[in-house]
Amino acid sequence: MSFVNVSVVNVYFVSGNDKLLVGRLAIKDRKIFFEYNADFLKTGIEISPLKLPLKTGVFSSNDRVFDGLFGVFNDSLPDGWGHLLLDRKLRKISLNPGDLSPLDRLCYVGHMGMGALTYEPEISSAAIPNYEDLDAIADETLQFQENDNDRFVDDLLAMNGSSAGARPKIVIATSEDDWIIKFRSFLDPKDIGPIEYGYHLMAKSANLDVPKAKLFPSKKGYGYFGVKRFDKMNGKRTHVHTISGLLHVDHRVPSLDYETIMKATMWLTKDHRECEKQFRASVFNVLSHNRDDHAKNFSFVMNTDGKWLISPSYDLTFSSGPSGEHCSTVMGEGKKPSLDNLLKLAEVGGIKKQRAMQIISEVKLAISDWNNIGKNAGVSSDSLKMIKSRLDRVSV
Ligand SMILES: Nc1ncnc2c1ncn2[C@@H]1O[C@H](COP(=O)(O)OP(=O)(O)O)[C@@H](O)[C@H]1O
Ligand SMILES: [Mg+2]
Repeated sequence: MSFVNVSVVNVYFVSGNDKLLVGRLAIKDRKIFFEYNADFLKTGIEISPLKLPLKTGVFSSNDRVFDGLFGVFNDSLPDGWGHLLLDRKLRKISLNPGDLSPLDRLCYVGHMGMGALTYEPEISSAAIPNYEDLDAIADETLQFQENDNDRFVDDLLAMNGSSAGARPKIVIATSEDDWIIKFRSFLDPKDIGPIEYGYHLMAKSANLDVPKAKLFPSKKGYGYFGVKRFDKMNGKRTHVHTISGLLHVDHRVPSLDYETIMKATMWLTKDHRECEKQFRASVFNVLSHNRDDHAKNFSFVMNTDGKWLISPSYDLTFSSGPSGEHCSTVMGEGKKPSLDNLLKLAEVGGIKKQRAMQIISEVKLAISDWNNIGKNAGVSSDSLKMIKSRLDRVSV
């Protein structure tokens, strides 16, 4: 069987009950083009101000970072887990995933992606299955990973909702809220759920802006980390842009420095308070040994007035990073960022030394309570000890 590629994709921006046509994507000889719809230009909504400024004419990307796709649309595509699911599904029906262009993949996302953008024509996926039994889903994800077992691919794909990230996850909508629930990959420790929940509590105590989160209970082991979606609240969608998509930076290659993250924050939000929030989150990553700080783990959200803010912090957990270094260096230092590196970063964000020191000590205080916080979150005693010993080594 061969795949019939799409040549044109309509992009929409969903805001409240309105669905605005943003523009059209087209592909020819693997080159991707985009043009804004004339009416959308009048709205003043800048979905991606650096790479797709609001202006007339046809854009084509000069780089191949996302296979020629613009970063803001690449942000809608699942990577890692979601990408794997779709590829396995395609193979199951005798299609070659390599035949799909990024535009085809956007059609699989349709209206199920994260954030405010939707895509048509939509290639419909299976009906949403029942996700009442999280233990059963966790088993399916592990069997899927360990045994190359494709029996569950349709269910898992439908429940993934085109979310990004490497770990297995599903998106669910309860009567009140929309949640992301994360499962264990076979490389993760058994208590990864409580560990991430402990980190969430620690971040909250360090005054980071974090979404509501909880452990969804398991009948047979550790609970599952669930976090409330900040891109979809009370049924309303919010436009989100990762720093990877904004700057066209590949998140799989360590190529970013916190200096760039801070400068991008200042440039996009034009708000000193956002720089201070970004600084606090950066200090937390350094002091909490969260080294998976790649370009897709930082995002910006657009509020209803069209103003950009940094998103609540997410994916905060203990991680060792590539070769024991941070994915994103801190003023050039990846292995052991120092107080001096952090203070230089504060300077980039226009944060006075005294205020920076205050933020650092607030974060330090929260992290020094790991044993209690982790224990209350249900982390195993082995993980508690291992993480504590690593945290003690990260001193600034
Ligand atoms: N609370 C949230 N609301 C909306 N989007 C989120 C939230 N948490 C994470 N995301 C998005 O989902 C992606 C995957 O989540 P993440 O926690 O980073 O998973 P992983 O551990 O697999 O990387 C993130 O890159 C981010 O774009
Ligand atoms: Mg992530």
